Amino acid sequence: MGILAEKYGEIYSLKMGFKKTVILTSMEAMKTIFTNEAAFGRDITGMSGDRILHKNIGIASSTGKMWEKTRTWTFRTLKDFGFGKSLDMECFIKTASQSLFADIDSKIETQSGVIEIDRYFNASILAIMWKMIVGRIIPEDEPNMEAISEKGHAFMRSGVLGMGIVNAYPFLRHIFPKTLGYTVQMDYFTTCNRVGKHLFLEMENELNSSQLTSHHNSLLEKFVQNYTAGNDPELFNCENFQLIFQDLLLGSTDTSATFMEIVVLYLIVYPAVQEKVYQEILRVSPNGRDISYSDRKE
Ligand code: HEM
Repeated sequence: MGILAEKYGEIYSLKMGFKKTVILTSMEAMKTIFTNEAAFGRDITGMSGDRILHKNIGIASSTGKMWEKTRTWTFRTLKDFGFGKSLDMECFIKTASQSLFADIDSKIETQSGVIEIDRYFNASILAIMWKMIVGRIIPEDEPNMEAISEKGHAFMRSGVLGMGIVNAYPFLRHIFPKTLGYTVQMDYFTTCNRVGKHLFLEMENELNSSQLTSHHNSLLEKFVQNYTAGNDPELFNCENFQLIFQDLLLGSTDTSATFMEIVVLYLIVYPAVQEKVYQEILRVSPNGRDISYSDRKE
């Protein structure tokens, strides 16, 4: 890419398959392009278009006014349910880490302390997001969470090569769906959409039967209440909820879980840092109590 930039300049385009792709080869070029509104467009061909049912819905793939209002409403509402607020987040993290720590303890007993770290944090992060979106985790939710977690991971693993080929030649996804990872990707989207729709309809029934008008316990409840009240039908409808649900889970789980895996790897590679962290925890919490955000001042 760099060699081509010497000949054609730091911004140039390449035709890959059916598609023209713009290549940016310097930080300056990226700043120039990404701060320009013309670059806000989305690629909604091939699998990306199938994911959003070829409609302007959700957050990560929508455009224009729809993107603006869906994104603004979603993140503002998530904040109401604790997203980014240290006290609430702390509570969610504590609950999720308790089951994680219990699992680590049991693995220390049963597997001589050997823990497969790959995908280890996904379920806990999914649980935190689920709690904020749905407002509860009941036993009936668990098979759905497990399916989303497993299929989400398979989606992430389905490979960039297949995606790259489909990106260049979108029609190939229908000819070699398995080889190019399309089957796995669509399986994840379909599962997420099925669960999202089920939650939406369940909440709609609940609201209709209880005539609840003001209490909001979750993003889902607030969304469906807006839907039943007939507010902005373009924003508040079942398909848009399905995509918001999918975008939030897809956007948060693997990214944050991978970050946690990197932290573990870093501590393994740098034992001196590991020891420093360990000593700091001992100093701040000598009696083994849970550490909290407020301890950061120490
Ligand atoms: C370490 C953690 C995270 C990393 C590295 C990360 C990274 C990113 C990146 C690079 C994008 C831009 C993708 C693109 O436009 O092509 C993005 C978008 C997005 N992320 Fe994250 N993210 C993280 C955590 C989260 C969390 C916790 C949430 C859920 C609340 C989330 C939800 C989203 C959504 C909904 C979008 C689409 C935004 C839009 O298009 O307007 N992400 N993220």
